[in-house]
Amino acid sequence: MQSPINGLNSYIEHHRLALKLRSVSVGELHLARRLRHPVYVFRNGVFFPVINQGLTPTKEQILSLVKHNHREVYIFPDDLQDIKKSLEIALIKVTRALSVGDPLKNGTKDLKLLTLNLGGLYQNPHSDELLMLQFQSTQNLSKFLFENKKLQPQFFQNLMSENFHYTLSHPMLSSILLLSFLQATHLFHEKEIENLFLASYLKDIGFSMIPTEKYDLKTLTTRDQELFASHADFSYDLLDSRIPLAKNYLHIIKHHHFLNDRMKGLISRDQKARDADMVMGLESTLVAVFDILVAMTADRPYRQGVSWFQSLDLIKRMMADEYPQEFKALVIFLKNFYKN
Ligand SMILES: [Fe+2]
Repeated sequence: MQSPINGLNSYIEHHRLALKLRSVSVGELHLARRLRHPVYVFRNGVFFPVINQGLTPTKEQILSLVKHNHREVYIFPDDLQDIKKSLEIALIKVTRALSVGDPLKNGTKDLKLLTLNLGGLYQNPHSDELLMLQFQSTQNLSKFLFENKKLQPQFFQNLMSENFHYTLSHPMLSSILLLSFLQATHLFHEKEIENLFLASYLKDIGFSMIPTEKYDLKTLTTRDQELFASHADFSYDLLDSRIPLAKNYLHIIKHHHFLNDRMKGLISRDQKARDADMVMGLESTLVAVFDILVAMTADRPYRQGVSWFQSLDLIKRMMADEYPQEFKALVIFLKNFYKN
């Protein structure tokens, strides 16, 4: 690792960098070609150059950054543009050829690229091009996951082991579980499963409206909590009229925290709707349940994750009265899913 920027102009130079540099996840460096500028890490309030300009980041350099706990690095906007373009091309390529060759390898790669690309959409949520790329890739992935039922637990584990920031990995992890459960129950048509998979995956896109520095806070003020709670409304506003998903799925997205609201007493159990567009059927319950299950079982900056078995306590209280058979099916499903 090279020395930090020093010398007479270090103060000005540092502020120039702070204004120009953009963060990118370390994994995305695999997609970089010849760098136009150095790559930096941020440590103790200073930017350190770690890879020189003119080079293509090597596997060893990337692994060394991961080993030193650098989840993010900082690069210049034109290098970022090059990486984002390479990522889009790679995602389109793998999405189109999902069924050609080794399904485990293809699916794992697709999930990784799709998750990284979601980060790009968070940074640029008003880009129709990025949103449609996410939508169409997720639609293709849904069909692929449906066809490769036996590999679903492996795909889930492989995505978990990538150790992405929770804002990026959570939507896909909860959606894989949802799809797998819906398929296992034989209660839903494939098209319906696909739409619920899409709704589940896109339901947290509103995180893009929350400043990134809030993501890793250890304690949240009431205002922060309100901001986080608004992400479902933000998701709805961002997606409405921009994606080919029927209105009822958009309403599931808008109210995907209704079970939490019910637990907090914000809406009553027999209250059919807080808003006219509120959907509280089995489909919306399942989308919400897998969202809660995956969130509870993962670590967050402000708390430790619990086991899936422990999370069932809360889920039981949320759904078992209304859907006793489905709750039983969920317990059996989870036992099998995590056994594989
Ligand atoms: Fe959410």
